[in-house]
Amino acid sequence: MTANPVQADPAPADRTPADAATGILTDLRYDVAPITPFGLAIRATEPGLRVEHIPVAPLRSLVRAHHVVLLRGFGVFDGPDALSAYCERWGEPSVWPFGTVLELVEKEQPEDHIFDSSYMPMHWDGMYREQIPEFQVFQCVHAPGEGNGGETTFSHTTAVLERTDPATVARWSQVTGTYQRAMEFYDSVTVSPVVTAHPVHGAPVIRYNEPTAAGDAGFVNHPDLRFTGLPDDEIAEVHRSLRAALYDPAHLYAHAWQTGDLVVTDNYTLLHGRNAFTSGAPRHLRRVQVLGTPPLDNPGLVR
Ligand SMILES: [Fe+2]
Repeated sequence: MTANPVQADPAPADRTPADAATGILTDLRYDVAPITPFGLAIRATEPGLRVEHIPVAPLRSLVRAHHVVLLRGFGVFDGPDALSAYCERWGEPSVWPFGTVLELVEKEQPEDHIFDSSYMPMHWDGMYREQIPEFQVFQCVHAPGEGNGGETTFSHTTAVLERTDPATVARWSQVTGTYQRAMEFYDSVTVSPVVTAHPVHGAPVIRYNEPTAAGDAGFVNHPDLRFTGLPDDEIAEVHRSLRAALYDPAHLYAHAWQTGDLVVTDNYTLLHGRNAFTSGAPRHLRRVQVLGTPPLDNPGLVR
């Protein structure tokens, strides 16, 4: 399959501050360029610029249209509280037992794969929580370093569905995932069809937690995943074809972090994961989740 860029979805006119978005796109202080195969990069072209200078309303529209917006070369937030305060401009942040800012740093003896250096299977954020965030805001406090991996991977699920043959999509649509996961911050069961509707505009999206590779004994704290709706051999084929489509370079963007990057993503449309990284590499991300307007109650949460 060719890796031609995915077209940005037109944002609904009723929530698009189009003039303001055009302002960002034409402001000479910012170098704006598409990311392949999807996403938009906004780079500061002079020192001293800060993301707080850019109005949030048009940025929100750009994230909804392009699904990933990278802000690079801007002044950095000097701590988690400053990042959290900025994110409140985007909407209501998800609050966790640890607060709003997740410090993503490898731990020495991780009790969960999120704090390991292993790969992270594709999933959507909030799948085990009361509410599903619309946006994820990531700040790269320290990049893992050249050649150390640790890219955050994003798959554009509406593009996957548009570009996959209808018979295959019909098979996927027969399958429902039941996901159970217990970790430090929750112990939940979620049930979701693999193909479901975007909660705002209703276009088909994929909600799927990719099973880890069979025999991957090093993967810490496996979730318990069950898939129903088709015979087992056909389910196996669904996993194979889904994985191939989600990781097809035409639909997958792997963000290689540079220190100082701020990346805002559309969790309603994308699935995301992580490439493994060199254990001990200085990878440090901060992540805040921002709820939609109004917040989206998790339609799949059983308990
Ligand atoms: Fe996540």
